[in-house]
Formats: sequence, C-alpha cells, structure tokens
Amino acid sequence: MCWLTSLTVTREPLMKEGTLGGREGDQSPVSSRRRGRARVLLAYHLPVAGYLLAAILSLIVRLFAGVPPWLVIHLTLLGAATTAIVVWSAYFVDTLLVVAPARRRPPSLRVAALTAGVVGVLIGVPEGWNVVVIAGAALVAIVVGVHGWLLGAAVIRHRRARFAWLGWFYVPASACLVAGAALGATLAVTRTTDGRLFAAHVMVNVLGWVGMTVVGSACAMWPMILATRLPSETAGVARLSGAACGVGLALGVGGLLGSEPIAVGAGLAAYLLGVVVVLGFLLRTAVRVGRRPHAAVFVASGIVWLGAASVWLLLHGPGVLAVELDRVVPWLIPGFVVQVLLGALGYLVPVVFGGGPGGSARVRELLARWWPVRWAMLNVGVLLVLFGDRRLGSAHRWSALANTAWWLVGISAAWFLAVAGWGIAAILRMPPTLPAQTSR
Ligand code: HEM
Repeated sequence: MCWLTSLTVTREPLMKEGTLGGREGDQSPVSSRRRGRARVLLAYHLPVAGYLLAAILSLIVRLFAGVPPWLVIHLTLLGAATTAIVVWSAYFVDTLLVVAPARRRPPSLRVAALTAGVVGVLIGVPEGWNVVVIAGAALVAIVVGVHGWLLGAAVIRHRRARFAWLGWFYVPASACLVAGAALGATLAVTRTTDGRLFAAHVMVNVLGWVGMTVVGSACAMWPMILATRLPSETAGVARLSGAACGVGLALGVGGLLGSEPIAVGAGLAAYLLGVVVVLGFLLRTAVRVGRRPHAAVFVASGIVWLGAASVWLLLHGPGVLAVELDRVVPWLIPGFVVQVLLGALGYLVPVVFGGGPGGSARVRELLARWWPVRWAMLNVGVLLVLFGDRRLGSAHRWSALANTAWWLVGISAAWFLAVAGWGIAAILRMPPTLPAQTSR
C-alpha cells in the first residue's frame, strides 16, 4: 500500500488531528467535494502563476537587456511567494487545527485585495508614482495584517490543538510584512540611500515574512512528507524556533535602525539558532525514519541555504548588513525560496489535488521521476550564482557563469512546474465520484 493511502486510513495521532489531504472518505476516487476544493485552490494560484511567468520573462529580458533586478525580485517574493503564503497558511490553519467549516474564512477577498495592492507596487515603484506606491503598499499591509489577525484568532480558539504552535510563526511573520511594506514604501517614496532602511526592509520581509512562515510550515509538514507520526518533540522545537526567530528579528531590526551592531549580531545569532533548531529536528526525524522522498530533500536543502545565508550575515554582516544582504539575496531566492516552494508543492500537489489512490500515486511518481537531476541543476545553479554574481565583486569575468546559473535554476523550476501542471490537469480530467459513493 502506498504511503499516502496508509496515511489517510491510519488512526495515528497525526491524522486524527487534521490532515492536509482532507478527511477519510475523500480519498478514494476523485470526490466532487475534493474536486471543488482543488478548483478553488487552483483559482487562488492563477495570480501566483501570472507573477512567476512574468518573473521568468523579466529574467530572460534581464539576461539580454539588463532589466533591473528589482522587478524580478518583487514579482517572485511580493507577488508569487506572498500570495502563495496567504493561501497556504490559511489552508494549513483550517485543516491542521480542524477549524469547523462554519468558522473557516476562505481567503478569496484577501487574495483579490492583495493582488490589487501588489500590482500597484509593481507598477508604482518603477514608474515613480508615489501615490500608487503608498496605496499599493498600504493595501498589502492591511491585507496581511488582517490575515495574521484571523490566523491568530483561530489559533487562540484552538489553542489545545496539536498544531496550535503554528501561531508562533504565522502571526509574527505577518507582523513582519506589515513593517516590511511600510519600510518598502518609505524607500520608494523618499528614494533614500540609507542602508539601514534597506537592510531592515530585506530582513523583515525575507527572513521574517518568508523565512518564518517557511520554517513553521516545514515543522508541520515534515512528518507528513516522511509519512511518519508527529514526533513528541515537535511542539517544543517549534515554540523554541518561533520564539528565537521572532526575538532575533526584533533585536536585529531594532539594532539596525538604532545603529547598534551588537544588537544586530545578537539578533542574527538568535535567528540562526531558530533555523538550526528546526534543521536539526528535520534531519533527526529523517534519519530515524530512514526515508528521503524528493519533497523532503528539496525542503531541507532550501532551509540549509537559509541557514547558510544567516551564518554568512552573522560572520560578515552586523556592521554592514545592507551590503551583505544585497549579496545573499541572489542565492536566497533560488536556493531557499524557490527550492522550498518546489519541495512543498512536490508533496502537496498529489495530496491536496487527490485523484484517488491511483491518480495520486501516478502524479507522485511523475514528480519523483528524474528529481535528482532537477535538484542538482537547481543547487549547482545556486552555487554558480554565488560565485558568478557581479555583486560578489568578480564583475564581467563571471557574468557568463551567472547567466548559466540562472538558466539552470529556471529550467529546473520550469521542468517541475510543467510536470505538476500536467499532473493536476490529468487529475481534474478524471471522472468525479460523489462523496456518498466513496464512503461506502
Ligand atoms: C509591500 C511593498 C514593497 C515595496 C513598496 C518595496 C519596495 C522596495 C524598494 C524601494 C527597494 C529598494 C530598491 C533599491 O534601493 O535598490 C526594495 C528592495 C528589496 N525588497 Fe522590497 N518592497 C516591498 C515588498 C517586499 C517584499 C514583500 C519582499 C520580500 C518578501 C521584498 C524584498 C526586497 C528585496 C530582497 C530587496 C533588495 C533588492 C536588491 O537586492 O536589489 N520587498 N523594495
């Protein structure tokens, strides 16, 4: 029996509490309820796909015509990653905390308003339209602020749930984006060259909003990816990591704005501790279980890159964080953000979009085919970005290397997305089965 099937019929505590794939009875052939949920999730991902497509196009134009990296970075992080985070964190909280259907708040309005805000920022900043930038950034901050508040309220209502510790990551992460949007709008409108504001903006957005959400979600998904029970240490590890990352970011940003390198260093050290604690948990569990599915390898490798970037910043950064953050961003985006996204989708696509045991297994097998090649291309690409990027001081000599690196990263990501898209389309083409029939 495939591990997914065994997960959904098992009575282990992990699945009693809530499952990302839905409840028993939804799993066998494609139930119409599951199909409806899959279609809604797909609709939420239309803007994500649009941003990613635009980012790939701008990357290609950038390789040939030198388009500034701001647009590529913000299409990926502010557009694709932020929308995906809002959709998936709402989904995780609803399903893992088993929020009653009547109390669930589908993020449709949030996604629509977020899209309007993001488009405003993406157009307003390059054009220098200050009013549009301020309105767009304010909309982004309001949407994510309300989102964090709704998740926090759900966590408080379900504080005895096994996954209630997700609130330790998702709520501070949302607060980070509210601060990050305000800092971004200030940078854009004042056109200041103050490195402290720049560094604070990158720190709260990349390490806070994206970093903390990813680290918390990885803790929750890891036992499911490895098809094992939720280890008893999970809640303790998660709370320690969430607290260390949150306090670290507050200290770091406070130190930056107050020009206190010691506080910046202490903040980075606390943040690194939070990342290392989770990484240790992931590796211990994987070694104990003895399985290394492709999704796990991608997610863990992504978090290794986040840890590596934090070590680099701690060793080189406290006094000149703006310069060092500018250096690590090119490897953080493909190494950490893109890699974790591909790993998470590698697990979630077959589980969430279902297709019954046969369909899920087929899609999973498709996604697993050739994964070491995709993984190697992505990580070799990140290493080449690291050595070839002009901002590491090696200028034109290495630009061909940097271009090759971006092609490797782009092909690896596009390859995955094509296979995943094909798999989802195949699932949605399968004949639906009524839930009543499936539970018999
Ligand atoms: C919400 C509205 C946002 C606005 C108005 C904004 C605006 C800006 C501006 C003006 C800069 C400085 C560009 C420069 O001086 O080179 C910048 C840099 C940056 N922002 Fe944002 N930003 C926003 C959100 C975000 C988010 C959500 C993320 C990540 C999750 C992010 C990540 C970055 C990064 C990584 C850089 C550094 C780019 C580089 O290395 O060249 N920003 N942003």
